[in-house]
Amino acid sequence: MSSPERADKDFAVQLRGAWLRLGREVILRGVDLDVTSGEGLTLIGENGAGKTTLLRLLASSLRLTRGEGRVHGFDLRDSRSVREFVHLMPVEGGAYPDLSAEENLRFALRMHRLEGDTGAALRRVGLEKAAGRRVRFLSAGMRKRLSLARLSLLARPLTLVDEPFANLDQAGRQTALDILSEVRQRGQTLILAAHEPELAAQVASRTLLLRAGLLTEQR
Ligand SMILES: Nc1ncnc2c1ncn2[C@@H]1O[C@H](COP(=O)(O)OP(=O)(O)OP(=O)(O)O)[C@@H](O)[C@H]1O
Ligand SMILES: [Mg+2]
Repeated sequence: MSSPERADKDFAVQLRGAWLRLGREVILRGVDLDVTSGEGLTLIGENGAGKTTLLRLLASSLRLTRGEGRVHGFDLRDSRSVREFVHLMPVEGGAYPDLSAEENLRFALRMHRLEGDTGAALRRVGLEKAAGRRVRFLSAGMRKRLSLARLSLLARPLTLVDEPFANLDQAGRQTALDILSEVRQRGQTLILAAHEPELAAQVASRTLLLRAGLLTEQR
């Protein structure tokens, strides 16, 4: 996989013999993974299994200790190229607390040199009345809804979503499912980490269990 001609752009993600150590923890112990373009995949695993860490690795925010990884054919070490392809929705945070909900969306669009209807995105997630409220004064579920609004605006070929259903009420979980389905319909690849496999299965047909540093296909 190290030669460029073998880097296959039909794969959104490829890991080969991936080892990842964080401090004393070994998060990945020689993992191989292929995710084809447009696929939907859920990562499950106990608290502390390493799901968030794996998503951060795929967003090129962490370095492999050993082995190789590619996103759309680009080496994970090439953060600049990889980040052009990836949007990571973190489990929390990711918004500027002193900007309003709407200002955060406008800023995100500007950073990505994109156009988009921020008002419609906020209505979509039920935040129209809170559009002018600073993020630091939003509830946890409202912040999650804002992250989903941002995700709906920032269409990236590889979308990584950490716990999309956490903190959401029932209507919010349905909104999350709708937005994630749209990601799939647009042909983008979706990888999510979730503790609600039955919900995740509605938007991702493949499930992998992360345990003791290894990924196992679930059937
Ligand atoms: N920056 C870091 N430095 C050292 N260890 C870390 C760091 N970040 C996470 N870890 C450790 O890595 C392990 C995996 O954490 P991670 O957050 O990836 O788990 P997770 O599967 O997402 O868990 P959860 O279901 O609780 O979200 C944990 O033991 C955690 O303590
Ligand atoms: Mg996590």
